[in-house]
Amino acid sequence: MTNYVNPNLILESSRLEPGEVTWRSPSNLAIVKYWGKHGQQLPKNPSISLTLSSAFTDTKLAYKPKESGDTAISLKFFFHEEENEPFRKRIVNYLESLKDIFPFLGQLDITIRSGNSFPHSSGIASSASAMSALALCLCSMEDRFFGTLDDDAEFDKKASFVARLGSGSACRSIYPAAALWGEYAGVPGSSDLFAVPMKDNIHDVFRHFHDDILIVSSKPKKVASSAGHGLMENNPFAEVRYADARRRLQFLLEAMNKGDLDTFGRIAENEALTLHGLMMSGNPSYILMQPATISILDRIREYRKESGNPVYFSLDAGPNVHVLYPEDVIHEVRPFIEEELLPFCEERTWLQDWVGEGPVEL
Ligand code: DP6
Repeated sequence: MTNYVNPNLILESSRLEPGEVTWRSPSNLAIVKYWGKHGQQLPKNPSISLTLSSAFTDTKLAYKPKESGDTAISLKFFFHEEENEPFRKRIVNYLESLKDIFPFLGQLDITIRSGNSFPHSSGIASSASAMSALALCLCSMEDRFFGTLDDDAEFDKKASFVARLGSGSACRSIYPAAALWGEYAGVPGSSDLFAVPMKDNIHDVFRHFHDDILIVSSKPKKVASSAGHGLMENNPFAEVRYADARRRLQFLLEAMNKGDLDTFGRIAENEALTLHGLMMSGNPSYILMQPATISILDRIREYRKESGNPVYFSLDAGPNVHVLYPEDVIHEVRPFIEEELLPFCEERTWLQDWVGEGPVEL
């Protein structure tokens, strides 16, 4: 089992120069969803996602030798240039939990400045991009201080492992194009502990795929992801769901490999609705879709029938809709979205996104 606990990663403070490291990391959209977890951020079923591009987080981490002698995490945190105490607390807890993996964190005064490309509170979940960007910064620091992560594949694997501990879905944002997280017999090397790259296993059509995010509501989520995962523990459909996700994954992987858009779209839509069905059948139960969400989903299906264009939807755990389509129909689909779907959106807000090349160090 991968175990990154390493008591040797201790700095000789007298030699440490202050420095900084910056990463830009994208969000991702799960096609087979992760919903239900156990133990230390371990998924109940494997999931696969497309890595996005224009929805990203930039995180700059500045460090210097600590002035006080203790080893508690010392952190200043700015979100869009403003100090943010709730975020700071969450990140202090996260960094404290990582001190076995990166003991040098207790030796530094750290300042993090972070910001998203998408408008603050646009309703787009940002934990995947934010936690992956931070995990990448931590791995870059380790490599800079100790030279221990010069192998790119090892670097990515550790970044994915560390990102998972911050937010499960974040472990998939490390890789370009597509990633799979969770042990799955069909994919050698797959693991519950980190995601693996899938770029070379998908057809070209998915490397140039669009995911336009329609904002039906920018209000904060009704239920936080962690609480949502928790509700699966007493959901009567949970075990059936986990088995079904595995079965679907097999069909989805074949479809993504062959470029079979029809099967891909059927599974993507069904997964989105299943996620919401699980929320609706939980105790307590949540309805996260809004009337406008349903109108958009209906309209997408009608449009697909009328036009024959391969346009599909997906959803996260909220009311906003992801519209999925390949590059070659963009000139027909964009006007359809603008004329027929944006009237259902809050102030006609949408974010044009597409499958991207993964995180970059800035
Ligand atoms: C619906 O990764 O946000 O987006 O691990 O508790 O941080 P935590 O949950 P999170 O859950 C994401 C759920 C999802 C589906 C998915 O991305 O697979």
